[in-house]
Amino acid sequence: MAVRRHFVRLMSPALLLMVFLLFFQAIGGGRALRLNPWESRIRMPTQQDDEPEEAGTRWAVLVAGSSGYGNYRHQADVCHAYQLLRKGGVKEKNIVVFMYNDIAAHELNPRPGVIINHPQGDDVYDGVPKDYTGENVTAENLFAVLLGNKKAVKGGSGKVVDSKPNDRIFLYYSDHGGPGVLGMPNMPFLFAMDFIEVLKKKHASGTYKEMVIYVEACESGSVFEGIMPKDLNIYVTTASNAQESSYGTYCPGMEPSPPPEYITCLGDLYSVAWLEDSETHNLKRETIKQQYQWVKKRTSNFNNYNAGSHVMQYGNESIKAEKLYLYQGFDPATVNFPPNGPLDMPMEVVNQRDAELFFMWQLYKKSENGSEKKREILKQITETKRHRDHLDGSMDLIGTFLYGPQRGSFILNTVRESGMPLVDDWGCLKSTVRLFETYCGSLTQYGMKHMRAFANICNSGVSQAVVEEACRDACNGRDQGGHFHPTNRGYSA
Ligand SMILES: *[C@@H]1O[C@H](CO)[C@@H](O)[C@H](O)[C@H]1NC(C)=O
Ligand SMILES: *[C@@H]1O[C@H](CO)[C@@H](O)[C@H](O)[C@H]1NC(C)=O
Ligand SMILES: *[C@@H]1O[C@H](CO)[C@@H](O)[C@H](O)[C@H]1NC(C)=O
Repeated sequence: MAVRRHFVRLMSPALLLMVFLLFFQAIGGGRALRLNPWESRIRMPTQQDDEPEEAGTRWAVLVAGSSGYGNYRHQADVCHAYQLLRKGGVKEKNIVVFMYNDIAAHELNPRPGVIINHPQGDDVYDGVPKDYTGENVTAENLFAVLLGNKKAVKGGSGKVVDSKPNDRIFLYYSDHGGPGVLGMPNMPFLFAMDFIEVLKKKHASGTYKEMVIYVEACESGSVFEGIMPKDLNIYVTTASNAQESSYGTYCPGMEPSPPPEYITCLGDLYSVAWLEDSETHNLKRETIKQQYQWVKKRTSNFNNYNAGSHVMQYGNESIKAEKLYLYQGFDPATVNFPPNGPLDMPMEVVNQRDAELFFMWQLYKKSENGSEKKREILKQITETKRHRDHLDGSMDLIGTFLYGPQRGSFILNTVRESGMPLVDDWGCLKSTVRLFETYCGSLTQYGMKHMRAFANICNSGVSQAVVEEACRDACNGRDQGGHFHPTNRGYSA
């Protein structure tokens, strides 16, 4: 409540209603406690619980799937993960980093050349390799890298996961998502079934022992739900289940708050939960399961699901009995740290989809009153809001055209029971997205949320010709021009 009152005082009456509507559901509550120093357990020299070193090599693939200063937090998470792995002794040549790399040198960055992932955090950008940046951050390159297929890589450093049968692979991904998709800064999005096919192919090639995958994104559970096999020697956890948002944290005006010069969120709830857990514990003693349990608790914001999400697990759950150091390495400085144990800290959050508007609003507040820049930002906020309404309204209309006014919204919003995949025909999902974008303009980051509606259209068995007609009628040329047209941005599918 304190946060909301603070906004209201600073607002002109004209904006009050709009912003109130925007943020009514965006900002979760939660009191913040100070970071309690853990109680360090000193180990006796005789204590012998270290396992023998494994023969294989540790590999890691780190992916930030967004761009833009408003999405600072995703690249910050990934840079932080890189530092953690390096401290743990994972070699640079075995870590492949995907990040757009537009944050450190961004004109809005108050600390040029520096990225932080915690309000009091140190620089996490220093030394991060620029393997795949800018235009080279694509789903296609990610797949080629995972498969160790150097020839299929386009651009970038050419570094791939050239793993051997005894090796372990850790994949961490942070970004926006939607039902069945993960975002990428360059189109198209990463589609769940394509990703699972890549994992199957990697498994069939016999080039790893085990793999652990952590994914932070909205509806990230839907990327694995009902389609992730249990026999690939892969264990997965996701920030959210198949039908909920994931959350940004360390945001301006929230507790804990970034330094005042920052107008963007520094991290994401699930991501900082595992990263901060890993760096404060002895990973030769902590198991993957212990981390999962603690991250689950913290990401739920201590059972406050208005400001937190359900961490899910998929794949082979036997793997979680293993110690974390097999994937994340071991920093000798942590030898006397406990194997696990909580840092008890509820946090204020903003859901991923509202974080963009939240950022623009911070920018608006900071700009000089009456300036051209301030008007420009307000125009952008209005435009963004208008485009969101256009996408939501068009989907609504399409539902009505296809199923009638009574059943339309029910069918589009139906969530299948857990354990079932989002869609039966993934090819249909892609072609429906393309039809929509052809007539109604790009989905954009926000529009990923409508993937479930497209999936349900496919599941209902409507023909593509009928879908095309509905899209044409619903959008009737609206939003075909300008920067939202897919020919300017690329199709999402
Ligand atoms: C993409 O990769 C190519 C080839 O390595 C490189 O020349 C180009 O600069 C990269 N683009 C960006 C934006 O990093
Ligand atoms: C799951 O992983 C364990 C440990 O590596 C292995 O023994 C078991 O066979 C795996 N299960 C399946 C279904 O592949
Ligand atoms: C703009 O005006 C409001 C209300 O008069 C004031 O509270 C705020 O600090 C001003 N902002 C800037 C950036 O000068």
